[in-house]
Amino acid sequence: MKKLFKLLVVSLVAFALVACGGGGTEGETPVGEGKTYNVGVAIYKFDDFMTLYQEEIKTAFKSAGAKDGNTYNVDIVDAKGDQAGQVEQIKNFITQDMDLIVANLVDPTGADVVIADAKAADIPVVLINREPSVEVMSVWPGKTTYVGVDATQSGIYQGEIIAELESKGDVNGDGTVNYITLKGDAGNVDAEQRTEYSIKTLEKSITTNNIHGTEFQGNWDTELGEKHTSDALTKYGKDLEVVFANNDGMAIGAVQAIEKAGNRTIGEDIFVVGVDAIADAKELLKEGKLTGTVLNDHFNQAQTVVEVAIKALNGEELSAYYWHDYVKVTKVEDAELKRAEYRKETVEEVTVRYAEREKAE
Ligand code: GAL
Repeated sequence: MKKLFKLLVVSLVAFALVACGGGGTEGETPVGEGKTYNVGVAIYKFDDFMTLYQEEIKTAFKSAGAKDGNTYNVDIVDAKGDQAGQVEQIKNFITQDMDLIVANLVDPTGADVVIADAKAADIPVVLINREPSVEVMSVWPGKTTYVGVDATQSGIYQGEIIAELESKGDVNGDGTVNYITLKGDAGNVDAEQRTEYSIKTLEKSITTNNIHGTEFQGNWDTELGEKHTSDALTKYGKDLEVVFANNDGMAIGAVQAIEKAGNRTIGEDIFVVGVDAIADAKELLKEGKLTGTVLNDHFNQAQTVVEVAIKALNGEELSAYYWHDYVKVTKVEDAELKRAEYRKETVEEVTVRYAEREKAE
């Protein structure tokens, strides 16, 4: 009812503007329906990558409005990693009767509750970045979707980057790669899959040895990445051959630690690989101080978020999943941002694919 009222007011204002000759010159203003939509975007934390991603979402809504003549008021909030705080932010969006919610959940295990609340208020939800469990996607089919990239792919690319080196990462030629992994948040799908698949992939070419035994918890953070790498260098010295970082933030920390230690040369006797392809990582890559990274395509993900959000705002049914690809990056040009098609998948298709993946292991 409230939405209907909002629509009426907007239409009346649009009519008044046209009647007063307030519209732009033909050709300048897009031909559109002139509706106003309010979109709430809840971000888990404005870390390096999510800062890029949310900016791209803002830009994409703006250009969509310029094209279709609608106004998209986008309210983006930063939960600063605090789950309880984010629950409040999302409740607020619901109280404000937002037309759609984009959610990058601090804790994706709570996605079912978020969706149930949104469903009760008839507000579609686009989940991003932190993939929830498949079951969650069946809570409100057609009105809930996940736009993302398959985390296993990023791990595979990281493993391939090292496997494709002449030494395969085996600097001392003893037939084994000694590595550490700098991990993102515990339980985070991206962190788990990148950790697992980078090594599984490298192991197809050469034996590996995690010289730390358990991974270092770096929480996507540069300072922690630096600290853990510095500790590892002190403890294992020249034995440490590869640093797998679940993201560029921590990879950059690793590079800083190696440079401070001063007795190793990245690209010669030690290798560092990250994920995201943020600007600072690309810079290091250019300078030869980073072995490689994987583009976590924020551009295409954001474009698709906006495209599917608009579908939902138009009352269209959404597919459960919209996927993009990661891109292997060993030189800056590999990370070029260009619009790519998404792939749609249903809950059933994803369930089968994941089961097959598990069986293959
Ligand atoms: C990952 C990204 C990380 C971090 C994380 C947050 O996809 O690579 O840098 O932003 O998402 O969930």
